[in-house]
Amino acid sequence: MKIDLEKLVAEARHARRNAYAPYSHYAVGAAVLTRSGKIYSGCNIENAAYPSGLCAERVAIFKAVSEGARHLIALAVVTANLGSPCGACRQVFSEFADDDALVVLASARGKQRKQLTMIEILPNRFGPHHLR
Ligand code: THU
Repeated sequence: MKIDLEKLVAEARHARRNAYAPYSHYAVGAAVLTRSGKIYSGCNIENAAYPSGLCAERVAIFKAVSEGARHLIALAVVTANLGSPCGACRQVFSEFADDDALVVLASARGKQRKQLTMIEILPNRFGPHHLR
């Protein structure tokens, strides 16, 4: 399947506009592409009780999985400065992604991009196979 990363980045950029980040003022948008070609997006949602907030990537991933998706083939993340997914988001993405799943980091303004793979951002990952 030909992956349209620019479309995925555009969806993440769009979702970022809904970021609720009154404490950090760091807005994040994310979008995941499922194997069947669907896109789910999310933004970070903070909370006055700080740990209750959630990252944009996990919002997008949980939206996809809650709609029945189980195979994610790409993740786009848009921030002001090419921020990359935190450890928890990497682990959650890895649950539903193969080693070669794409991760593209994009800047909110301009054309800056960084492209990686799942296994590059989370080498030696713990996964479902360890529990078999
Ligand atoms: N954040 C994300 O949305 N994704 C990440 O991978 C890193 C951090 C959010 C959480 C919080 O709302 C803000 O960025 C600052 O940490």
